[in-house]
Order: sequence, then structure tokens, then C-alpha cells
Amino acid sequence: MLRDGHNRVVNYLRVSVTERCNFRCQYCMPDKPFSWVPRENLLSLEELFLFIKAAMDEGINKVRITGGEPLLREGLDQFVAMIYNHNPDVDLALTTNGYLLKQTAQRLKDAGLKRLNISLDSLKPEVARQIAQKDVLKDVLAGIEEALRVGLKVKINMVPLKGINDGEIVDIMNYCKARGIEVRFIEYMENAMANDAIKGLLGKEILEKVKEQYVIKKLGREGSSPSFSYLLEDGYKFGLIDPHKHDFCETCNRIRLTAEGYLIPCLYFDEAMSIKDAVQAGDVPKAVEVLKAVLRDKPKENRWSDEANETSSRAFYETGG
Ligand code: GTP
Ligand code: 5AD
Ligand code: SF4
Repeated sequence: MLRDGHNRVVNYLRVSVTERCNFRCQYCMPDKPFSWVPRENLLSLEELFLFIKAAMDEGINKVRITGGEPLLREGLDQFVAMIYNHNPDVDLALTTNGYLLKQTAQRLKDAGLKRLNISLDSLKPEVARQIAQKDVLKDVLAGIEEALRVGLKVKINMVPLKGINDGEIVDIMNYCKARGIEVRFIEYMENAMANDAIKGLLGKEILEKVKEQYVIKKLGREGSSPSFSYLLEDGYKFGLIDPHKHDFCETCNRIRLTAEGYLIPCLYFDEAMSIKDAVQAGDVPKAVEVLKAVLRDKPKENRWSDEANETSSRAFYETGG
């Protein structure tokens, strides 16, 4: 079992397989030119797997593949199969913008993927275009339907932004409710790469919008999830991820690996250590030592806050959120 310096059990590894993306979301990489880390600087999927395997043997039992947009990385279904075959019981999930799912969902399911979290910020084509800076809605909706059709367990993530999509909170909830899928509303996390003009809604403002239409009951957090669950009177459950109140940090169970091989102990901070040299030299025990060193220094909590305007310098497209 892996523990960090604050005695928290760490069993969840998020692996970003690429920082590249086919969207330019306002809260993530609105101005990113098409210049990326050169491919030769990335770990190969086989090298990433060598580390994941060792981490699973140390106690990781939940692996989430992220990006950028992970479906842009070639060979992803074989990568999913490698992880699944090492331990079919692993909670194996992927977070995506959904754009390429229509073509990929079946292959991912066949490879052993169990769950998908898909971003859906608007049901209006022009608003979706304004947020992602591309005409994306039709393909994303088709991707969600395909994921459900092939039997993947789906959750939807929405980031409500003032004056942009905050009038659609209940509409997105109703869309998810009609399909029996859970929606999680996520507070926008201020970061230096995002558009400075956007402002997110705080958790309490998001709940106010829901309360205009529904009576809600507080449920609680499931395990170490950053998402706090609420229940509608008809039994529908939804979630709220509110990092500005960092109470979920107390039970944080995760560590992130970037496509270049950096282990990142907290989404907010810039600190990172590389496992690249160790993995490329075939020295897996050394990579595990680096993992343990990163965990020893994992920060206690993030610094986003309701009162102060704290902005992280960490790019979300490197860490996969
Ligand atoms: P489940 O396994 O379904 O609970 O997924 P998840 O919530 O771990 O994954 P997902 O990729 O859907 O992340 C949802 C949102 O939660 C993203 O915006 C993440 O940035 C945010 N999030 C996840 N972990 C953390 C964390 O440790 N700190 C902060 N501040 N946000 C997090
Ligand atoms: N604040 C909040 N959520 C974000 N995401 C990406 N950038 C941000 C941000 N700055 C979300 C995406 C995706 C998840 C992985 O992270 O919407 O659903
Ligand atoms: Fe791409 Fe996701 Fe970032 Fe949007 S939030 S630009 S979909 S990586």
C-alpha cells in the first residue's frame, strides 16, 4: 500500500498520455499554438505501462487515462488492454472531450475500459463553439450516445462559467437524468493558461441554480472522491466538485503522471519529479523510489480559495485535470 507524507493512502493514478488537444477550451488552453512537446520527448506507451504496472503492484487499483485529449494518442486501445490484462479488477477509466468517441468507444470497451468521464459544457451549438473554439457539439453528443450504446459507464463533467453557460446547469442535468448518467458540476479552477476574462461559478452558486428547479438533499462524498453527492427527490444523484473549499484534499488519494514522465503530487502546484530516465534505462525499482519520494512531499492541500483570487501556474492540459 502506498502512503503519502500526511499518511493518506494513495491508490489512484491519473496518467496523461498527451498534452495535445483538438479543442481550445477557454478554461484550459484558449491560446495554445500548435506547438507541442516534440513526440520524441514523450514516454512511449510501453514505457508508461512499465511504470503503471509497478505502481499497480505497489497498491494502485484505480487508473484514469487523461490528456490533453487522450483519444488523440495512437495505440490507445492496446494501452488499455495492457493495463486491463495486468489486473482485470483495476478501476480503469478515461476522461475525454468526447469528440472522437463515435469511432473509438467500441474498441476501448473491448480492450477492457470500464468507465468514461466526458466533458459537456453546453447543449447549444454556438455556446459549445464559444467554449471549445470549434464546432463540436454534434460529435460530442454522438460520442456520448455511442459510449452508452457499447455499455461503458459514463459520467458527465460540466464547468459552469458566468454569462456563458451558467443558464444551462439544469438543462445539462436534465439531459443526463434522461439517460441515467451522473453529472458533476466543477468549479472553474483559475490557472495561468486560461482566458483571464472568464469567471467560474462557486459551488454554492451552482447549487442555487439547481434549487430554482429542484429540491435537493446533501448526501456526502464517496470515499476519496473530490465530488460531493446530492440527491433530487426522484432519486437522481449528481455531484459537485468544489476545490475552492479544499476539504476533499484531506482524503486525497491521487498522483498524476504526465506524458513526458513527470510525477505531479498536486494539481495546483508546479512541483514534479521525472521517472523518465529510470524507466528508459529499464530501472523500474528506481522509478518506484521516485514515486515514493514524490508521495513523501505531497502538499497537504491546494490553494484555490473563495476569498483570494489564487491562480495556479500549472497547465491543465499537461496534468489532465
Ligand atoms: P471518478 O473516478 O469518476 O470519481 O473521476 P474523477 O473525478 O477522479 O475524474 P475526472 O477526470 O472526471 O475529474 C473531474 C474533475 O475533478 C476535473 O476537473 C479534475 O480536475 C477535478 N479533480 C480531480 N482530482 C482533483 C484534485 O486532486 N484536485 C483538484 N483540485 N481537482 C481535482
Ligand atoms: N477548471 C475546472 N475544470 C477544468 N477542466 C479542465 N480545465 C479546467 C479548469 N481550469 C475539466 C474538464 C474535464 C476535466 C478533466 O477537467 O472539463 O472535464
Ligand atoms: Fe482539450 Fe480538455 Fe483542455 Fe478542453 S479541457 S482544451 S477538451 S484538454
